[in-house]
Amino acid sequence: MPNANAAPKADLHDIASRYRTTRALTCALLDPLSEADATLQSMEDASPAKWHLGHTNWFFETFLLRDNRPGYQLYDERWPFVFNSYYEAEGERIARFSRGMLSRPTVAQIRDWRDAVDDAMQPMLADPQFAELIELGIAHEQQHQELLLTDIKHALFQNPLGPAMFGSQTMAEQSVDENWHQHPGGIALIGHDGDGFAYDNEGPQHQVLLTPFALAPRLVTNGEWQQFINDGGYRNAALWLSDGWAWVNAQKINTPLYWHEDDQFTHCGWKRRELDAPVTHISYYEADAFATWAGNRLPTEFEWEAVAQKFDHSTGNQLDGACAPIPVGGGGLYGDCWQFTRSAYLPYPRFECADGAIGEYNGKFMSGQFVLRGASCATARGHSRSSYRNFFYPHQRWQFTGLRLAKDI
Ligand SMILES: [Fe+2]
Repeated sequence: MPNANAAPKADLHDIASRYRTTRALTCALLDPLSEADATLQSMEDASPAKWHLGHTNWFFETFLLRDNRPGYQLYDERWPFVFNSYYEAEGERIARFSRGMLSRPTVAQIRDWRDAVDDAMQPMLADPQFAELIELGIAHEQQHQELLLTDIKHALFQNPLGPAMFGSQTMAEQSVDENWHQHPGGIALIGHDGDGFAYDNEGPQHQVLLTPFALAPRLVTNGEWQQFINDGGYRNAALWLSDGWAWVNAQKINTPLYWHEDDQFTHCGWKRRELDAPVTHISYYEADAFATWAGNRLPTEFEWEAVAQKFDHSTGNQLDGACAPIPVGGGGLYGDCWQFTRSAYLPYPRFECADGAIGEYNGKFMSGQFVLRGASCATARGHSRSSYRNFFYPHQRWQFTGLRLAKDI
């Protein structure tokens, strides 16, 4: 939920504009997909594109319209059961692994439902009392745009024909300053300062003591990862955390996800791997093993944030529209890939969950996961910020995950 300390700075015109842009982009991401593509669910962690289309609409219909517009009638009373994700307070719901069985409603029916919700939302977009909740709905929908893109990539990857969702595109690599970002240590102020929207897990702002360190100027590349492989990185137990070594052996892992020989699977189908592009689709275990092999370590989330506070979060390779998200490499702290930190995803001091269903947004997931910082090429530009905390389980790697090395100085 929005930071409870945030001053109400509702620029209603801006919110209405971002609502429309965000809603339109979600629909545009479905345009290249057939009904069959949009219904595929390749694993329990991933959801059908069509489900994301419906679930983001369910969020607005439930928490804005149903809860705040007296007399509002649900578009279809049966649909909350299939489009609720994990909100216990909202009652029973379809099992997560069964979302791929939803041949109905069709994409066209869900689009009609979205149009109806957008129409009903119009008066609320101009009402300041709903600004904070609408901000949350926009941020939520942006998160699902990224999941939609990573989930459909995993689904299309299962097809031996290697279907492309988007046509090929060339992206210019940005120049990189090779100097590491040095930080002298000391007390750093970490967490969201309350100015504007943030998720509850980004606060409260608090002090953290840092020792002198440096962050690498860029993300680790495919070429460097190839050196790690050539050096036997996946076969050397000394480099791995115990859980990671068990995972590598049980799953027979010897490359990042989506690699095959010199190619990798992308939203544009199979492509030759660019050696200078950031490596992506790696697990926490792999990131940690690589950092050990390189003689460095992963940063803590606090180190990352202390450096990132000086950078513009809207820069870098992030999602600007319905086109293929592909890491290209460059400087700056944002874009291309989410960056693993060695920090467990835990509540900050004095963190409190909000009451009701919205309180289930973040807090209940603070167990067994690691924090990732930055933003990826599939993150809607402007969605992330220096205090933003993404989080995944250490074995997961279907997101655009990468790493930036850190070292003590
Ligand atoms: Fe959601």
